[in-house]
Amino acid sequence: MLFRNQAHSLVIHTPAKLNLFLEVLGKRADGYHELETVIVSIDRYDTLVLSPRRDEAVTLTVQCVGGACSDSDAVPTGSDNLVLRAAALLQKRTGCSAGAAIALRKRIPPASGLGGGSSNAAAALAGLNRMWRCGLSSEALQTLASELGSDVPFFLAGAPTALCRGRGERLEPLAASARVTAVVVRPRAGLSTAAVYGRYRPAAPLRNAAAITQALRRGRLTEAARQMHNALQPAAEELSDEVGRLRERFSRLPVLGHQLSGSGSAYFALCAQRRQAATLAARLRSERVGRVFVATCRL
Ligand code: C5P
Repeated sequence: MLFRNQAHSLVIHTPAKLNLFLEVLGKRADGYHELETVIVSIDRYDTLVLSPRRDEAVTLTVQCVGGACSDSDAVPTGSDNLVLRAAALLQKRTGCSAGAAIALRKRIPPASGLGGGSSNAAAALAGLNRMWRCGLSSEALQTLASELGSDVPFFLAGAPTALCRGRGERLEPLAASARVTAVVVRPRAGLSTAAVYGRYRPAAPLRNAAAITQALRRGRLTEAARQMHNALQPAAEELSDEVGRLRERFSRLPVLGHQLSGSGSAYFALCAQRRQAATLAARLRSERVGRVFVATCRL
């Protein structure tokens, strides 16, 4: 997250993420799934502008930039938007009676497994805590973050990459050294996280993240890419033909590794060089596989 003061407003650039590894360890009594996942943030950002209001109301306007959203997967603008839920939770827990006018510019496509909504929520929590002078500690903010969603704590922590456990909310930052380029494709249709988890069926044997985290710690990118894994991919492919077609398409391209991000529907590949990623992205755009962009991450 990048913060900037602009006149009386606070401008926050909120990143997207990719899951390099995601194993489902089992279903929990609370209905969630126990995970082991390696998440990396990428330089694709939404922008949140927080401005103070004289009353206690919190308003949200959403603008989609560059075709990030479509009619079928529009971003909610009402009280179910995670930004408004974050503001309401902060007001409730701290008794803060300030208001805010919030403008959100979306570049991260929703329903993609790219964490846009979670990242926006993390930024709203951290930004409003600062603007309203609520004085919550980072630990207290992390507790609110995990109530809002499983990926929100990752974005709040601001680590470039982390190994996450539990529902995804317990994180262990990983040291990042190398810069890597990814080509990301968002097929025409998005996927609902709850629907993909609902379709998930366990497949033995379970994998653990030891090999990929060790490769990342040693800066062995090719090995890390070989260890990529996403246990939700078969479920996503059952719900979206486009995901299966992207897997087949990427398996014929000279990339280090490729898979679904989170619960999808975005699909990505890691590339050895930025120039190669740009060439592949141009080719995929001409094939009209969906919205294609190139992003950088630190591994
Ligand atoms: O935590 P979040 O709100 O992002 O989760 C959305 C949905 O995804 C949950 O309601 C649940 O159905 C599913 N989920 C899960 N196990 C997780 C994370 C999400 O079953 N660890």
